[in-house]
Amino acid sequence: MAANLASLRIDYALSGLDESDADPSPLVQLETWLSQAIEAKHPEPTAMTLATATLEGEPTARVVLLKGLDVRGLVFFTGYASDKGRQLAVNPRASASFFWVLLERQVRVTGVVAKVSREETEAYFRSRPRASQLGAWASNQSAVLRDREELEARLEEMRIRFGDGDIPCPPEWGGYRLSPDRFEFWQGRPSRLHDRLRYSRREASSWTMDRLSP
Ligand SMILES: Cc1cc2nc3c(=O)[nH]c(=O)nc-3n(C[C@H](O)[C@H](O)[C@H](O)COP(=O)(O)O)c2cc1C
Repeated sequence: MAANLASLRIDYALSGLDESDADPSPLVQLETWLSQAIEAKHPEPTAMTLATATLEGEPTARVVLLKGLDVRGLVFFTGYASDKGRQLAVNPRASASFFWVLLERQVRVTGVVAKVSREETEAYFRSRPRASQLGAWASNQSAVLRDREELEARLEEMRIRFGDGDIPCPPEWGGYRLSPDRFEFWQGRPSRLHDRLRYSRREASSWTMDRLSP
């Protein structure tokens, strides 16, 4: 390894996170931080690392894009027959995290995942570029391919199948909503004395806030 990994470090000093500045609702707080990441022109501000696990507790994590956010939770879209989809079918608990390095911030969200309504999925699918719609049909997400050509051939097959007509949403593709019961907002501070505020759900719309040691 050429780089000396142990010597790589950043001292975070942009800002702090005070209890008095944090919104009583973590969903509103997430909206605020996400808006600030978008305003800061952060690359892929909606990218979140989503961790799921098998029934046996074997975890896997991957990046997905946040496509909806409201009081009900965080929405993302994917293949229902993918690895993550199969894991969520048997173990609906998941955790997601955002890292906005330009703002020295991390958000962690944990909760229960359920499929969104078919109407919600279809409305989003219709808004996607045509090439992405075709891609959803061409890809059997997480399945093993013989080679790249197999995928390209499948895409061509779909191009011919749908011609210039509307492309319907594939039955095995759609949205999930992560309904959170825990959040953590992390703001980097100098000398590793970071601010960490955790929200735990008390009832439907009330949350307890705790400061955690960094
Ligand atoms: C920046 C970025 C954004 C991504 N967005 C999505 C997404 O919104 N939905 C999705 O299914 N996969 C997305 N992916 C691909 C996933 O990380 C992953 O490869 C794929 O979902 C298969 O995961 P699985 O085999 O664990 O189910 C994205 C990857 C990156 C790097």
